[in-house]
Amino acid sequence: MKIAIGNDHAAVEMKREIQKYLEELGHEVINYGTDECKSCDYPLYGEKVARAVAGEEAECGVLICGTGVGISIAANKVRGIRAAVCSDTATARLVKAHNNANIIAFGSRIVGTELARDIVKAYLDAEYEGGRHENRIRMIHEIEDR
Ligand code: RB5
Repeated sequence: MKIAIGNDHAAVEMKREIQKYLEELGHEVINYGTDECKSCDYPLYGEKVARAVAGEEAECGVLICGTGVGISIAANKVRGIRAAVCSDTATARLVKAHNNANIIAFGSRIVGTELARDIVKAYLDAEYEGGRHENRIRMIHEIEDR
């Protein structure tokens, strides 16, 4: 699978670990994040990954900042994006199964690398259930037109 990854200065090291892990799992990873620890602005990277996913250059995205919150808020401003912050594996599974999240986000200051790997794996292994969730997702995107 083609996966877009992005991060700010707070998550350079974790981005490297997660990119390596994803590549070990056989995925192609496109890095849109910063590789410098110099302070930078997370909305830039949230938008880059969101546009890559919305434009189908990548099938899904991974975003990491200090908390995962700022970068996911930025990504969610892009039409068609459903970015979800997760700090545990159950949420990571459910955001795919119920919300069909196309971007998963987490915080380098909130979760450790081991848990971050498990979160990404739980998300990738889960399947969207469709059915009753379909209309709710449609309703979310209708908000983009109001
Ligand atoms: C950067 O210090 C920090 O604010 C950022 O990484 C993120 O946590 C924002 O939500």
